[in-house]
Amino acid sequence: MNFFVLTLFPEMITDTLSHSITGRAIKDGKINIEAVNIRDFSKNKQKHVDDYPYGGGAGMVMQPQPVYDAYKSIEQKAGKNTRVVYMTPQGKTFNQKMAEDFSKEENIIFLCGHYEGIDERVIEEIVTDEVSIGDFVLTGGELASIMMIDAISRLVPGVLGKEESFQDESFSDNLLEYPQYTRPAEFMGKKVPDVLLSGHHGNIAKWRREQSIIRTIEKRPDLIKNAELSKKDIKFIEKIGKSDIIK
Ligand code: ADE
Repeated sequence: MNFFVLTLFPEMITDTLSHSITGRAIKDGKINIEAVNIRDFSKNKQKHVDDYPYGGGAGMVMQPQPVYDAYKSIEQKAGKNTRVVYMTPQGKTFNQKMAEDFSKEENIIFLCGHYEGIDERVIEEIVTDEVSIGDFVLTGGELASIMMIDAISRLVPGVLGKEESFQDESFSDNLLEYPQYTRPAEFMGKKVPDVLLSGHHGNIAKWRREQSIIRTIEKRPDLIKNAELSKKDIKFIEKIGKSDIIK
């Protein structure tokens, strides 16, 4: 999968993603990241890419021409109909479902803004999706695109090893993941739940499912309504006296 990032700070993207699992995926050729410096497409001597807003007001606005030319420089390589994702707090809030959808694309282009934003005309011309990573304002879109690339990359086949599988992880089914334990069997007087030492796969699976349900009800009750619950799950929720949450 190929990620293209149009940015004023290309090293932020390539340096951050060169570590850990994304770094390994790049080395293995599972993902490819190309950061394109918008400033390289400035046509003035000082390499300015921003100017004062028409109509007045604070801050500077990124000009349309360098952004458009940066996009044009990779358009062919990235292929026709490639999604162009503008990182903005005005966008749709990113979530696991969106990460899954994006992970099916072969190429994605991210556009990162700075200053007070980007001239609206180039956004209208090239952007297909506007995405926010949450209801807060960052200094630029770079960290937001890094987060998206991380979340999308780990869903690309072959990026995670067998041991890092995402089968039961949080949000995969609108349920949070069950608690995990490793050695020692006792830490500061706290014991690992007996069932996990029993070797009984059926009981372990049942316990984990129930823990996922309990955790989701306690920590993220907003999710549980969208979870696919079996008859057994519903019985369990009734048993713990929480059936009002799923009504
Ligand atoms: N740029 C600035 N703030 C942002 C946010 N919350 N999400 C995505 N891009 C942004």
